[in-house]
Amino acid sequence: MPEDKADIPKALRGMAQLKVDKIRHWTDRTFSFSCERPASFRFRSGEFVMIGLVVDEKPLLRAYSIASPSWDEELEFYSIKVADGPLTSRLQHLEPGDEIIMRPKPVGTLVHDALTRGKRLFLFSTGTGIAPFASVIRDPETYEKFDQVILTHTCREVGELAYGFDLIEKIRNHEFLPEVVGNKLMHLPTTTREDSADMGRMTDWIRDGRLSARTGGPLDPKTDRVMICGSMEMLADHKALCLDAGMVEGSNSEPGDFVIEKAFVD
Ligand code: A2P
Repeated sequence: MPEDKADIPKALRGMAQLKVDKIRHWTDRTFSFSCERPASFRFRSGEFVMIGLVVDEKPLLRAYSIASPSWDEELEFYSIKVADGPLTSRLQHLEPGDEIIMRPKPVGTLVHDALTRGKRLFLFSTGTGIAPFASVIRDPETYEKFDQVILTHTCREVGELAYGFDLIEKIRNHEFLPEVVGNKLMHLPTTTREDSADMGRMTDWIRDGRLSARTGGPLDPKTDRVMICGSMEMLADHKALCLDAGMVEGSNSEPGDFVIEKAFVD
């Protein structure tokens, strides 16, 4: 960042410039990248920030969930590629050493502070909606607070599940996480438009009892807490099922049984 504030265009003041380190293309529709984390930047696992690029000397920003946990030295993001999307059409061509910009003000509801205490934590995601949970399931606080953590990830095709499988593998091979996580974490990937071991929308699994059979009981407000991240329709359907189960929606100011957030970039 330039030393002298006068050198920074007004529109970019207060913005952090971050050097991109690793980029990985998962499918022709998704990619992830990591960048350096400013020493002073703090966030709660599950939160999102505005990140982007300088285009025509102006910041072009979108909301992105931080996929890395709050203790990590790097910041990781998982993104969809939209051919004519103003930001993602450019971001997908990032190379190591390039810079992105970030407004360092993390916010969001997919955080422990927005949930009351419970025994099981369900993390329902579709597509790139897995990103905030990649952060949450690598946070020791998750396992201090819950006995069982169930991450569901539903995608159209098998290839789109790869980010989640890699994440679980990273946890298994990590220096200290296996001890923290123990056998509390269940990963439940499903597909809807290509054959795989487990198929179908998780909303259907909840309705027809498949999720209950796999996890040891139906959603229960006495013991269960839920975080949901996906498309607007997916959020609405999962929210209705939480309400049917007698759960109350939570927020940072009033913690509850379940919280929702849109998987932003589209
Ligand atoms: P489906 O193939 O049956 O539409 P998308 O890329 O459209 O966001 O979808 C990602 C995944 O989320 C797909 O597997 C899709 O299933 C599933 N999905 C889409 N809408 C819903 C919904 N309302 N409730 C649950 N899952 C959904």
